[in-house]
Amino acid sequence: MVGPASGEVGPVSAPAGVTVWVFDTAPERLVQATLSDSERARIGRSRVRDSGLGYATARVGLRHVMSAEMACSAKEVVFKRASCPQCGGGHGKPFVRRGPRFSVTHTGRVAAVAVCADREVGLDAELPRAWPRTPSWLGRLPAAERRRLSTARDGAQRADLVRDCWVRKEAALKLLGVGLSHGLDIPTGFSDQDIQPGPDIRLHMLRPRTDVLACLATAPDTPVTIRSWRW
Ligand SMILES: CC(C)(COP(=O)(O)OP(=O)(O)OC[C@H]1O[C@@H](n2cnc3c(N)ncnc32)[C@H](O)[C@@H]1OP(=O)(O)O)[C@@H](O)C(=O)NCCC(=O)NCCS
Repeated sequence: MVGPASGEVGPVSAPAGVTVWVFDTAPERLVQATLSDSERARIGRSRVRDSGLGYATARVGLRHVMSAEMACSAKEVVFKRASCPQCGGGHGKPFVRRGPRFSVTHTGRVAAVAVCADREVGLDAELPRAWPRTPSWLGRLPAAERRRLSTARDGAQRADLVRDCWVRKEAALKLLGVGLSHGLDIPTGFSDQDIQPGPDIRLHMLRPRTDVLACLATAPDTPVTIRSWRW
C-alpha cells in the first residue's frame, strides 16, 4: 500500500500513472491551512457558529480565486485595506498589492467574488428578505428613487423594488470604496431604467442563482463572465 505520512493530504502514487487525491474534510484543517491569523480570529468572534463557518468558507473561496489569478498559494495572498475616501479611516476598500481588483459579497449561504485584472469592481448580492416598511436609510436616497418605492402596489412588489435598488446602490458604493454611511444619494435607479451612477460606471444585473439578485459595477465596456467555484 502506498500513501502519505499520517495526517498528510495529497496525491497518492498508484500504479499506471493514476493519481488519487485524498482530501482531509475537517473544516478546521482547511481554515488552518488557508486563512490568516486575523481571519481565524474573526471566525472565533462570530456569535453564530454557522455564520463563522460561512465567513471562513467565503474567505477560503476568495483566497483560491485570488491565488489562481496571482499564481501563488491561497495562504500567501495578503489583504490590505485602503483608507475610506470620505473620512480617511481604515475601513476603505480591501485590496491586494500587485494583485487583481476584487469585490466580495455574502448573502445567506452564498458568497460571490468579482475579480478583474486592472479595473475596479463592486459586487453586491441579496437573497429575498423581509425589508422593513420604512428602512432607516430611505430618506437618504435620491427623491426619484423614494418616489418610485412609494408607488409599489403591495408589500411583495415593494420588497422586490427595495432589493433591486439596494444591490445597485451597494455595488456602486463598493466599486468606489465608499461605505453605506456616505453615498446613498448617488443615483443608481432600478434595473428597468438605464440610470448609471456616473459616466465611468456601468451597473450589470446578475442572477448567479435563481433566488439571488446581484449587481456588478464595472468600468464601461468591461466584459463579464460568471463562473461557479467547485470545491
Ligand atoms: C462595505 C459594505 C457596503 C458591505 O455591506 P454588507 O451588505 O454588509 O456586506 P457584503 O457581504 O455585501 O460585503 C462585505 C464585503 O464588502 C467588502 N468591503 C468592506 N468595506 C468596503 C469598502 N469600503 N469598499 C468596498 N468593499 C468593501 C469586504 O470585502 C467585505 O467582505 P469581508 O467581510 O469578507 O471582508 C458595508 O459593510 C459598509 O458600508 N461598511 C462601511 C461602514 C461605514 O460606512 N463606516 C463609516 C464610513 S465613514
